[in-house]
Amino acid sequence: MKAPTDPASVLVYPPALERGVVEAVHALAPRSTEGEAIDRVIPAARALSDLFTVRRPDVFPDYAADAMMRFAYGLYFAPQTWVRTRLALAEALEPRPRALGADGRVRVLDLGAGLGTAGLASAHLLRARFGATSVRLVAVDRSAAALAALTAQVASSADLVGLDVVPVVGDLVRLDALPAAAAGPFDLIVVSFALNEAFPPGDDAAARAWLAALATRLAPTGVLLVVEPALHATATRLRTLAAPLAEAGTLAVLAPDLHGRIAAPHPDPRFVDHEVRRWALPESVKRVNRILRRSLDELTFSFVALSPTPAPPWPETPRRVRVTSPFGRLKGRRAFTSLDTTGARPTFDLLERTLSDDDETRVRAIERGDHVEILDCRPLGEPGWSRLPGPDAVRTAWRPT
Ligand SMILES: C[S@@+](CC[C@H](N)C(=O)[O-])C[C@H]1O[C@@H](n2cnc3c(N)ncnc32)[C@H](O)[C@@H]1O
Repeated sequence: MKAPTDPASVLVYPPALERGVVEAVHALAPRSTEGEAIDRVIPAARALSDLFTVRRPDVFPDYAADAMMRFAYGLYFAPQTWVRTRLALAEALEPRPRALGADGRVRVLDLGAGLGTAGLASAHLLRARFGATSVRLVAVDRSAAALAALTAQVASSADLVGLDVVPVVGDLVRLDALPAAAAGPFDLIVVSFALNEAFPPGDDAAARAWLAALATRLAPTGVLLVVEPALHATATRLRTLAAPLAEAGTLAVLAPDLHGRIAAPHPDPRFVDHEVRRWALPESVKRVNRILRRSLDELTFSFVALSPTPAPPWPETPRRVRVTSPFGRLKGRRAFTSLDTTGARPTFDLLERTLSDDDETRVRAIERGDHVEILDCRPLGEPGWSRLPGPDAVRTAWRPT
């Protein structure tokens, strides 16, 4: 598959933003080549990566206060955050379009914004793809250094020109103590990789009450987007926190589940609801990753997108399901698990002998998270399994582009 290059694509980190960081890094070591200058940031990128994954301390250090760590974030993590956020936001807004904001004026709140990448990615997408003519981005974080870097980036980047950024240094847990700028109503509230940090596991009642309080800061058609790591514990916790809000009718689920609520976990514990998506890896990320060797060909994360106003029901035909596993190979057949518009979890299989080379390419392109239409199938003996008579019985209905 040819990687997309259009900066409006959900899957692309805008080359101009990548360039901005590469040039800033190069300016630190002007006598090196650009590549060598990038290499100097690798130790900081490794330290940050360990912090986010293996170390995960109870209290995160203020990494944005250290210039090298900031550059490491900008080079290596910002592109990942950018694309992850847009994948989730696009799925919340695109298959069942909803207009955010009045007359194209959109208000976004980014809680635990850090350097602001999730809020910026959302604002950029809303302008490029969803009709926003102006965006006001309120970014809340306890790190004044991070918010100062965000303000500086917006001031110096042509791709972000015209964004109205309001930095708010404060504790996101204490919503009522935040200044009026954070009170809303907002058309979009983004919480990216901050929920588990602000509400460590064990604090579920407080986290749930906080999410419910955010609902009151949304415009009626507004969206609350929470993105978390793909780890079993975080992905499961996110769904456990969101499920009662949906059951109580406080917020409806726009995505990833298709039926407005959170489905019960798959009966087979090997299947965990999380996202795995191919993306257009920027060259500078590739360069850092030659040394760090993290698996980055695919982005992994979990998310929920919620709103006080449910999305309209899906048309009954053709039958739509969301793919929740790879289209995997099993002894002469291909199979994928899915979530359907009733909250059920059907599995579909297809005999390999029905696939031509072209079909093979098409089937291989179907990814976890795609919405597909099932045009024909028959139940198999195994409960919950159905057989597609051939590759034409499944058709992609929505995928991020
Ligand atoms: C892992 S970073 C994620 C940053 C950004 N949202 C992203 O996705 O790239 C978590 C951020 O949440 C902030 N944070 C955590 N707990 C917070 C709290 N109680 N109040 C304000 N900010 C908090 C941290 O300062 C940090 O910038």
